[in-house]
Amino acid sequence: MRTNPPIRIVPSTLSADFSRLGEDCAALEAAGADGIQWDVMDGAFVPNLTFGPDVIAASRPHTSLPFEAHLMVQAPDALAARYVEAGCGLLIVHAEACVHLHRTLEGIRALGADAGVALNPATPASAVASVLDLTDMLLVMTVNPGFGGQRYIATMEPKIAEVRRMIDRSGHDIDLEVDGGIGPSTVAGAAAAGANVFVAGSAVFGHPQGPAAAVAKLRSLATAAHTGEGSDSPRD
Ligand code: DX5
Repeated sequence: MRTNPPIRIVPSTLSADFSRLGEDCAALEAAGADGIQWDVMDGAFVPNLTFGPDVIAASRPHTSLPFEAHLMVQAPDALAARYVEAGCGLLIVHAEACVHLHRTLEGIRALGADAGVALNPATPASAVASVLDLTDMLLVMTVNPGFGGQRYIATMEPKIAEVRRMIDRSGHDIDLEVDGGIGPSTVAGAAAAGANVFVAGSAVFGHPQGPAAAVAKLRSLATAAHTGEGSDSPRD
């Protein structure tokens, strides 16, 4: 593994209060989050419909945290510029939605944003082997995309480890993100497999002690899994 890739906790707004998105973004910054993920869904690539660029733009002034757009959409090329204009510095497209993934990633970088690629559970790591030079983030989905609050798919951990090996062999500085069912009982397994960026929605907004406690717990457990130190427990 790249010597200690930085641990980043990136809550998803999919579980936020949609009537208070600006305030919830400010609360995530106060809670110590490292960024915010917007789950953009078009009702076609996934069976749900969520945030247009104007919703994200309206939330942009409420926080200084970096925004990333997880584009779960059938036509990311047509939408990319609008999400960059809305304030997203990282656009994550699905390999399954891109007929010309190499060109799509070039296009995102030409817009001045970082480029990420997401892999659904059934998509092999080899799908991105030829575009690592154009990639800043690889996202291994640990649920089938479309909804928050789903069960973590633990059988994705060997794929996380394979993607980590690919990244380390490539010599490129690429983050490995996981998304879906990430919480106190699953984050350590994903971290031990090689993930360094963790997206969590329901585990953050549903935490009984609030987002700050959730973010701190996830960070502590992920760090312990990377370093092999600490006796933190999911139940603390
Ligand atoms: C699925 C979404 C979710 C979301 C996180 O399409 O991408 O994974 O970000 O949801 P939780 O953390 O509630 O599983």
